Amino acid sequence: MAVAAQPLLASALLALLLAAVSAADTKNNPADELVSLINSNRTASKASNLADNQGLGCIALQYIKAYKGQCDQVGGNKKPVDSSFIDTFAPNCGVQAASLAKITGRLLACQPSYPPPAQAFDMLIADERSLQVLHSKNHTEVGAAVTGTSGGGPYFWCVLFSNGKANSSFTVEGGVPKTAHPGCFSGNNDECSGAISTGVGAWTLVSATLFALAGAFTL
Ligand SMILES: *[C@@H]1O[C@H](CO)[C@@H](O)[C@H](O)[C@H]1NC(C)=O
Ligand SMILES: *[C@@H]1O[C@H](CO)[C@@H](O)[C@H](O)[C@H]1NC(C)=O
Ligand SMILES: *[C@@H]1O[C@H](CO)[C@@H](O)[C@H](O)[C@H]1NC(C)=O
Repeated sequence: MAVAAQPLLASALLALLLAAVSAADTKNNPADELVSLINSNRTASKASNLADNQGLGCIALQYIKAYKGQCDQVGGNKKPVDSSFIDTFAPNCGVQAASLAKITGRLLACQPSYPPPAQAFDMLIADERSLQVLHSKNHTEVGAAVTGTSGGGPYFWCVLFSNGKANSSFTVEGGVPKTAHPGCFSGNNDECSGAISTGVGAWTLVSATLFALAGAFTL
């Protein structure tokens, strides 16, 4: 990495980022886009289309928040304890505890710069094991989430799969999950926070070459 060039590049990045954020279309939800990519890849491989469950999507965002922005914890053996789902994630989302269903797969990835959905897909599906999780016949529904950390990187993507019944699992009180900005999750009509922009092509390209640190995690 060219250390001497960093201040200049940093201000160039900032300018690009500001331009990208102001141009962002908040109606585009990158988490929904990732779910579309997942479903097209599944159906192309003769696996079922998965229901996009907003309660599960909200829980995926909570799952990310449990890492407290620590990218280096992704990929190790550190992961939120299972009881977090009922103790923390579900209540924070307004998901009814009795409607929690089994988690049949999880994918998590993180890097300092924002990876748009297609790049996130490649990060999440990086080996044979994650491909098996992606194509598993055990899943019936999916929830995805993306968020940065404190207004910047690192950026985390999380996908949770479940075998619950689409309309009766991860149900939320009042039909709308509690939103916990920043961040976006799939399955609802939530406007994503400005911290995640869908128009960051140029910025992503530049910053992706600056940083090497990345992590991916599958279960
Ligand atoms: C599905 O994703 C995997 C992993 O990225 C890729 O190798 C495969 O070509 C994709 N399948 C289709 C039909 O796009
Ligand atoms: C599907 O579920 C079965 C039973 O729990 C498990 O043994 C298997 O590993 C799962 N398959 C995948 C691809 O996760
Ligand atoms: C879920 O509910 C929607 C709307 O109420 C309905 O259109 C759909 O058929 C239901 N799906 C299942 C799997 O029950």
